[in-house]
Amino acid sequence: MQNHYNWPLWHWHFEPSSICTLHCPRCPRNEFPETLVQTQLSLQFFKDNFNFDGIRKITFCGDDGDPIYAKEFLDIVSWFKQKDPTVSVNIVTNGSYKTPEWWQNLGSALNEYDQIHFSFDGWDQASNENYRVNCDWDSAVEGARTLRTATNATMIWDAIAFRFNEDHIDHMRSLAEKWKFDQFQLTLSTKFGSKYSHYNTVGIDPLEPSQKFISGSHRFERKIDNLSSRRPKTDLALLENIKYYNNVKQLYKDQPIVPLCMIGTKGMFVNSQGYLLPCCWLGNRYNDVGGEQFYIPENNIKSQGLENVLNSRHWDGFIKQFNSLRECKNKCTSSIVNKEYATNW
Ligand SMILES: C[S@@+](CC[C@H](N)C(=O)[O-])C[C@H]1O[C@@H](n2cnc3c(N)ncnc32)[C@H](O)[C@@H]1O
Ligand code: SF4
Ligand code: SF4
Repeated sequence: MQNHYNWPLWHWHFEPSSICTLHCPRCPRNEFPETLVQTQLSLQFFKDNFNFDGIRKITFCGDDGDPIYAKEFLDIVSWFKQKDPTVSVNIVTNGSYKTPEWWQNLGSALNEYDQIHFSFDGWDQASNENYRVNCDWDSAVEGARTLRTATNATMIWDAIAFRFNEDHIDHMRSLAEKWKFDQFQLTLSTKFGSKYSHYNTVGIDPLEPSQKFISGSHRFERKIDNLSSRRPKTDLALLENIKYYNNVKQLYKDQPIVPLCMIGTKGMFVNSQGYLLPCCWLGNRYNDVGGEQFYIPENNIKSQGLENVLNSRHWDGFIKQFNSLRECKNKCTSSIVNKEYATNW
């Protein structure tokens, strides 16, 4: 695989589907429905483009949808894991509406290198629906509990702190422990009225928690509690990550930006339409992130093939721009990119 720009091919962030049955109000799919394209990636897409060595980590998440609603998601995960059982698969999902058999099959495909995050912001149907609108709590919990019996992958309960759950965090953590999750992760979001006034829908923002549960930076912050001694085996991925971090930090040592997309921290982002973007932050369909430049035919892997897209000369223009894009200045300013920042999703 020719790789003219030395992209970090060791980590990929795929959006297998931009489809979702939920209506979380601050998800881009619901904030910008007019530009949402609902589609998915097929197993054949991966066979055609990602059948090369050196992939150490795969994140299945996305900006606009949920990976579990891609029709061929189980086949895609199984194909990657059969090709290389030591690749670290990282799945982020709301968990709703799949059958126990489906979770059993996912569990059979995963192993100790993998991790799966369940986005649970409540502790029952009513509380979870305060944000995870239209979720199906019972199927999600049954799914997680079925998966636990079927895999030794690490399972993480991901909760975003909101007003409605900030006094129930201990209860959620104790449920996570009871249902044998390995970690409880609390996300401190930025999407609140005190940061962005358009969220003050009734004069105030009804979802906004107390100050201590809001991110103090431009990026979501995460607090992780360990509930068991199980951890994903990510040593091979971490070695690559550190190697790229050391090189890129050196290369950009006199620059105001140390681009995480050249390190691979977040993974090269492939959206559900097959477009390649340097990271999922620029993939977000917010007006001011500067993502429009990537939605051009020569940047679509489905039509052009991965190697052509990776080596297209249009990247020259983009690479010169890191210093001027607001999102790059926010997320990758050199003063915050240290080893810890660059090795954590
Ligand atoms: C678009 S979702 C895709 C994955 C999956 N559908 C899910 O929700 O877990 C990507 C990530 O955004 C997170 N997310 C959604 N709303 C958020 C918010 N208001 N603040 C912070 N993170 C949020 C989700 O929990 C998930 O970790
Ligand atoms: S579950 Fe994920 S993709 Fe679906 S609406 Fe919520 S945040 Fe968006
Ligand atoms: S924000 Fe900019 S510099 Fe940082 S990873 Fe994304 S594209 Fe690269």
